[in-house]
Amino acid sequence: MSVLKNQLWGDPLVSAVRQEWSTSRKSHSCSIIPSHRVVLMTSDFEKSNPYVHELKKTAAYIAQPGKGILASDESNATTGKRLATVGLENTEENRQAWRELLYSAPGLGNYISGTIMFEETLFQSSRAGEQFVDILKKQGIVPGIKVDTGLQPIDGTDGETATQGLDGLADRCKRYYEQGARFAKWRAVLKVDSDKCPSSTAILENAHGLARYAQIAQANGLVPIVEPEVTLGPGDYSIERTAYVSEKVNSHVFRLLNEYNVILEGILLKPNMILPGLDVPTPSPEEVAKYTVRTMLRSVPAAVPGIHFLSGGMSEEEATLNLQALQAYGPTPWSLTFSYGRALQSSTLKIWSGKESSWKAAQERLVALAKANSEAQLGKYAGPHPSPGGARILQALRLGGAGK
Ligand code: 13P
Repeated sequence: MSVLKNQLWGDPLVSAVRQEWSTSRKSHSCSIIPSHRVVLMTSDFEKSNPYVHELKKTAAYIAQPGKGILASDESNATTGKRLATVGLENTEENRQAWRELLYSAPGLGNYISGTIMFEETLFQSSRAGEQFVDILKKQGIVPGIKVDTGLQPIDGTDGETATQGLDGLADRCKRYYEQGARFAKWRAVLKVDSDKCPSSTAILENAHGLARYAQIAQANGLVPIVEPEVTLGPGDYSIERTAYVSEKVNSHVFRLLNEYNVILEGILLKPNMILPGLDVPTPSPEEVAKYTVRTMLRSVPAAVPGIHFLSGGMSEEEATLNLQALQAYGPTPWSLTFSYGRALQSSTLKIWSGKESSWKAAQERLVALAKANSEAQLGKYAGPHPSPGGARILQALRLGGAGK
């Protein structure tokens, strides 16, 4: 120790810093700063936020070990497209029945700590008249709400988009909080290719939108899920390219979150796993994990409680295997867990297909998928998967409307 100290003290840079420190100490009235006089400076936003403890508690609860988020916030239009795949009409009644099947699945709360809903669903009840928020709370699941209103093209870019929804957001957040929501989601989509995308225009626009949204959500008691999705798309761009781009995007997002004084212990991050373009063969879970963990370590502050990956088109089994592979790099400063939409719902919906007789089997599939991902989060998944094999679950990029 003393050898190390001598080496350090002898270092010219360390000596200069010590010299400066001792000069500045002498210029103050006290020569030693007693520990009780150390003032931890924090932003006025944090100091004046009445929800600050609740925000941190909610975020930590959702990020707890062995649990993840069920993303069921598809807009009515997108839900309609999903229902159509099993021959169901896009009626309010069918959307309500589908969400009731999900939220009332027995045992779901053992593996799921939060559920994201679309506005219609947040205010909806089961067919027997019990509010969905109450059904979820009984399961120990925190109700959440998607607050963005969809994507619009950015002029002069190669089909890149900006997320809409800041107008009137504070008032909407207040209503959602009153209804029982305790967290929110805003999805920014960043298109990636092998050279041009994402442009700096798209990165800055989306980082700004996410930061302003996060600040408004926190001011109104909702933990913001910050979702910068570098979206899996066509092309032969490499896994290194996605890693590089995602690192840049995350870094800009946290730079802007800092600019807006967003309280990092009271947010959750929802990024993509690092995957190459769709024309490249699917990488092994180990390869995905290596690049994904490196990207997060390089760009996500340790104060963030949870990183909840989206499934982004991965097959149900691929999403579980990749999540499990991430855990080999632990312990990490944040939990590495899931906020899956398609990877929890696809085979569940197929099994149900609107048939009362398949209701129970569909609920069992949902809970089995949630359990597999819970085990993967704990690094204990041993298979077999409830939905082995299977293709990627891709969707077209939607513009306009309130589309997830
Ligand atoms: P997927 O898991 O289907 O990508 O959906 C997660 C989500 O909420 C995207 O916004």
